[in-house]
Amino acid sequence: MSGLQAGKADNEKSKNEELLIEKDEAERQKEYMRLVSEIISGRAGETGRPLRACVITFGCQMNERDSEKLKGIIMECGYELTDTEEADLVLFNTCTVRENANLRLYGRLGHVGSAKSKNPDMIVGICGCMTQEPDVVKKLEKSYGFVDLIFGTFNVYKLAELLYARLTSGSRIIDIWEESKEFVELLPSKRKYSFKSGVNIMYGCDNFCTYCIVPYVRGREKSRNPEEIITEIKTLADNGVVEVMLLGQNVNSYGKGLKEPVSFAGLLKRIEEIEGIERIRFMTSHPMDLSDELIDVLALSQKICDHIHLPLQSGSNSILKKMNRRYTREDYLLLVEKLKKAKPGISITTDIIVGFPGETEADFNDTVDMVKQCGFDSAFTFIYSKRTGTPAASMDGIPDEDTIKNRFDRLLAVVKESGTDRSHELQGKTLPVLVEGVNDHDETLLTGRLTNNMLVHFPGSAELIGTIVDVEITESKGFYFFGFMTKKD
Ligand code: 5AD
Ligand code: SF4
Repeated sequence: MSGLQAGKADNEKSKNEELLIEKDEAERQKEYMRLVSEIISGRAGETGRPLRACVITFGCQMNERDSEKLKGIIMECGYELTDTEEADLVLFNTCTVRENANLRLYGRLGHVGSAKSKNPDMIVGICGCMTQEPDVVKKLEKSYGFVDLIFGTFNVYKLAELLYARLTSGSRIIDIWEESKEFVELLPSKRKYSFKSGVNIMYGCDNFCTYCIVPYVRGREKSRNPEEIITEIKTLADNGVVEVMLLGQNVNSYGKGLKEPVSFAGLLKRIEEIEGIERIRFMTSHPMDLSDELIDVLALSQKICDHIHLPLQSGSNSILKKMNRRYTREDYLLLVEKLKKAKPGISITTDIIVGFPGETEADFNDTVDMVKQCGFDSAFTFIYSKRTGTPAASMDGIPDEDTIKNRFDRLLAVVKESGTDRSHELQGKTLPVLVEGVNDHDETLLTGRLTNNMLVHFPGSAELIGTIVDVEITESKGFYFFGFMTKKD
């Protein structure tokens, strides 16, 4: 056997071994689900009612997806899901990207603490990004004695095992890992929608933007094997899913470090071929890694949606440098130009931080100028929040509160103007809409999503949920639309 062939065979072998380990671990976890469900059904028998569980999710789409996995496990364990915190199991899946997210958790925990004093059998769990911070765990241990279960971002799949340990020992269980050991994806998950699904293609981030805590709490970037991703999406398609959202902190660098490296563009091409999948979305893109190859794939694809979320963070070159973003405003403008040329009408949305250390009025004006030049459809705007342990936490020159507030309001106004201009361009057009549900406020209306990710409300009946229909956009309301269904040819 030649060296190359031997290398290939070794790769195959270790791939199979990885899969075996994953299968073994998934089986182990399923056994724990069975054991927990025995205990839970016993308790339901004693109390004369089913036991209920509530999962409260903070933060981004990665956390939303993790919560679907947590809910899948919880249901397999015999709990019924509920939306209220008056439950037998309350699990908080936390976010720590900004200080506000942490404060919100502590607020909610206060309520749950008093609910638990009425129902001492209640189990309170906390997982997600906050628990990857040692200081947070210390605080929870010291001041929130009623919290029973603390685990992190790398061992979400172990929930049944941890619940079993809690239920059988009666003591508090803390299990936090510093990095991911294995991917265990072959477990149940309870999706919010039957017709669309998030799919994790990678975990973690290696970029170390100086303000961001994500690389510390979600670990180093690790891509999933493409074969596993394709198999997962084919199974989803067989089960009626028409839209997938590929998830990662930095999807454009997908594939780095894999035994046989694949680019994100290459992965997209393979997903495009999967029968039954009609829409492909992805999130989040880093401008630095947005390759020409990827832009070409976007241009040729029939299924990739007309939307890209491309965080700008700041329009000032000196702030971008301090943020370690590794692109300039000129680079970003060039990308926007290429994207618009490749996919005319594409919706570009972004994230912007106001009040980064050292941001001057001129820096801020550069950001405003970029919003005007790029013509964003919308933007998430954030006030800089100091995260302990990140390089920016030791940078001086955070503008004073009034200045930040003033800049934030001015930024919102330009973002709103840009979004309104963009949305008016769609008035009168007939566009495909994936119907997501009956309108929350008026049950004669359906609510669906355009490929640019904006919502449209239009008359129709519930059996259309999960299908793609053509809708004429009659009225733009800035961030959503009204319309009427038109007949398909
Ligand atoms: N302060 C404010 N905003 C932040 N983000 C990340 N870290 C911080 C921080 N420390 C924003 C970025 C990122 C989005 C998910 O959250 O804009 O793109
Ligand atoms: Fe944070 Fe930057 Fe990674 Fe995004 S790319 S998760 S902002 S470090």
